[in-house]
Amino acid sequence: MNLLNSNHDVERIIFNAEEIKAKVKSIADIINTRFKGTRPVVACVLKGASIFYADLCRELEMDIDMDYISVSSYGNNSKSSGIVKLTKDLDFEITGRNFIIVEDIIDSGLTIKYLRKMFQTRKPKSITTVSMLVKEENISNNDVDIYGFIAPNDFIVGYGLDYANHYRNLPYIGVLKPECYNDIGKES
Ligand code: PRP
Repeated sequence: MNLLNSNHDVERIIFNAEEIKAKVKSIADIINTRFKGTRPVVACVLKGASIFYADLCRELEMDIDMDYISVSSYGNNSKSSGIVKLTKDLDFEITGRNFIIVEDIIDSGLTIKYLRKMFQTRKPKSITTVSMLVKEENISNNDVDIYGFIAPNDFIVGYGLDYANHYRNLPYIGVLKPECYNDIGKES
């Protein structure tokens, strides 16, 4: 079986490219209205959000400062403990600026919670968090301001979402066949 970026590894498509494009536009419309006439710093949380970020930024009508941050697990229990480590910081100062954080998915909600709290200490004028997907249990999470789709509980890949760094460049979001993540786990 070809496991690398193969459409055959996807059991079913949940959100196709056209649906994603429309959703990106509707998210951009909210941001365009909210930040009209301002110049926000818009930060991508690497790597998963990179594709959504690139599409979103091209729908924004105001001048923006594009920036990138990276976070990683802090020890083995970061997801459960809520402690994450910033491995690449912003290049821009955000003090007094409107600051927008772009994520691909809010799962437990711990990463976005950490990022909001940490960047709040730099005293931006505002912080807005945006995610293409949010797990159902986090829809009412106060740390997520704008989201696109509700993520199903299935193992989803594509449009930035990966399994072991595969499938990020699929142009749609789909459910990965269980035998694929079993097979990839056996790669040397
Ligand atoms: C994913 C996603 C978020 C985070 C969400 O990143 O991009 O940053 O997990 O999880 P949480 O809500 O449970 O904190 P991942 O660690 O998979 O890295 P990646 O973006 O490089 O794939």
